[in-house]
Amino acid sequence: MEGSFVINNQKRTFKFKSGDTLLTVLRNNDHTEVKEGGREGLCGACLVLLNGVLVNSCQVLAVSATGKNITTVKGIGTIHTPHLIQKAFVQAGAVQCGFCTPGMILATYDLLEKIPDPTEQEIKKHLDGNLCRCTGYVKIIKAVKLSSILLKENEEKGKK
Ligand code: FES
Repeated sequence: MEGSFVINNQKRTFKFKSGDTLLTVLRNNDHTEVKEGGREGLCGACLVLLNGVLVNSCQVLAVSATGKNITTVKGIGTIHTPHLIQKAFVQAGAVQCGFCTPGMILATYDLLEKIPDPTEQEIKKHLDGNLCRCTGYVKIIKAVKLSSILLKENEEKGKK
């Protein structure tokens, strides 16, 4: 079968099997920034925004996502034009192997859209579905707090 998606603001059409997940279709079509973890919806490595809602793409059938807007981490910012959240993760040293990072960035983006100034508890609750094997989470929480500060500063600058 064939279906179209709007991925990071670009319309793309792919061929895929009826049982393929959105994760499979994305990864088979050069979107390897979406990581494949346990495929059980438990690790958060494959998170994307689907019409603005954070979902584990391993748990979504591609056919149900046709015609919808999909945002991967590259839609938030790229290596040449990083988002402030990505800058904050680097600055806080919250990236080690980097496998969990795309999902962490998207979960942070989603959190700060909803709660611009989250408490530590709110950060832990929102990132509960994102596993990291390397960092021990301390620096990730620091990165989320720094992201909140940088975004606020940026907003203030925009008002001046
Ligand atoms: Fe390695 Fe998080 S940095 S899994």
